[in-house]
Amino acid sequence: MELKKKAYIETYGCQMNISDSEIVASILETQNYESTTDIKAADLILLNTCSIRDNAEQRVRNRLNELHALKRKHPGLVIGLLGCMAERLKDKLLEEERHIDLIVGPDGYRQLPQLLEQVESGQKAINVLLSADETYADINPVRTGGSGVTAFISIMRGCENFCAYCVVPYTRGKERSRNPQTIIKEARELFDQGFREVTLLGQNVNSYHGEENGLPLDFPALLEQVASVNPLLRIRFATSHPKDISDTLLEVIAAHENICKSIHLPIQSGSTRMLGMMKRSYTRDWYMDRIAAIRRIIPGCAVTTDIIAGFCSETEEDHQETISAMRQVGYDYAYMFKYSERPNTIAARKYPDDVPEEVKSRRLDEIISLQQELSLKSNKLEIGKEYEVLAEGISKRSDQQLFGRTSQNKVVVFPRESYNPGDYVNVKILSCTAATLRGELKK
Ligand code: 5AD
Ligand code: SF4
Repeated sequence: MELKKKAYIETYGCQMNISDSEIVASILETQNYESTTDIKAADLILLNTCSIRDNAEQRVRNRLNELHALKRKHPGLVIGLLGCMAERLKDKLLEEERHIDLIVGPDGYRQLPQLLEQVESGQKAINVLLSADETYADINPVRTGGSGVTAFISIMRGCENFCAYCVVPYTRGKERSRNPQTIIKEARELFDQGFREVTLLGQNVNSYHGEENGLPLDFPALLEQVASVNPLLRIRFATSHPKDISDTLLEVIAAHENICKSIHLPIQSGSTRMLGMMKRSYTRDWYMDRIAAIRRIIPGCAVTTDIIAGFCSETEEDHQETISAMRQVGYDYAYMFKYSERPNTIAARKYPDDVPEEVKSRRLDEIISLQQELSLKSNKLEIGKEYEVLAEGISKRSDQQLFGRTSQNKVVVFPRESYNPGDYVNVKILSCTAATLRGELKK
């Protein structure tokens, strides 16, 4: 038997990239490659990259420098760049980073076998064609990293929202939905393998449009079908766009015990003027109306968000509106960023990046410390309550403790006793920090 070659894949950026890396691992396995977690043993190193902010790209550039040194020691080593940075920079990367052998954009992974052959014959290889219909629907991802309890299922690809700051529509192309049958099949197979939670992924899951028996199938309908795979399979999804998170969707979430009560709804800014310039197509009032609908239809639902500090022309008043919106919603958790201009986006073409770096930093700091306060406040309200927690793994601090999540996506650490990852455990919350809850078993 021919000895298998070893592929090491390193993933940067979003959950979508984690999911893509699993698809890549699966394609490579058909080509006499097996995945390794030992970079020193690798014959092929692939970086699955992110372009969303400049610092995401800088991290990859630094890593490439380190890999350059490794390649000098092992001249046969093949180095490839996948994902959004590959798509954004294309063959420019081959000129700038001479030790890269292979460049493949997010829609080109099926071509990897041919591209690798090309590399083996001594040429550089590149495929950065975007596709209108590639969804990798038939590919069974290799669940490389995870816990064996939670998994991602990619349900759509691409984005056509063209938010002014965002590079994604350029790196991931047109929006397309994966057919629902393959999604349900994947969820079923994951459950049968012992997985107990799936997260349905897309840049904007609310605009999912599948087809079943010739009839359209929207996201709420898909969600119901995935929820009915098994009541013991928890369902999460990301990301929702505030412009089209409908009451119908909220009602479906409320109606199914196993659809998690946690919604990620990126606000980006609390200022309607900023939202207009960002081309988010909603106002602050619209957003707050959607929050009110969540509170009304799904009491106890957690709400999390993304916030950008220091977008073009942002004034102190705009910033204060973000602060007041955070307080008004009382987010359970937030991902918070400084605005980073991305080449060729609408903002880069139309608006100067005119908020000084130190002002961006100060505003971001204010946003982060407010969120700390809000997260702590939200966690303190959990003390004394009981939750069903899905155990995901052994706590890093002690093998006598497990960690898991509530339906609201809050991390809980609790005594292990005879429980294992994958079990549902009733836990009473006793104490907390801004990041974690601690509890005791409730039998
Ligand atoms: N600068 C800073 N943050 C950005 N995001 C997207 N583009 C940029 C950018 N150019 C943030 C948004 C988005 C999240 C995934 O990343 O908040 O929701
Ligand atoms: Fe994901 Fe966006 Fe980064 Fe691409 S640019 S990896 S879509 S976060």
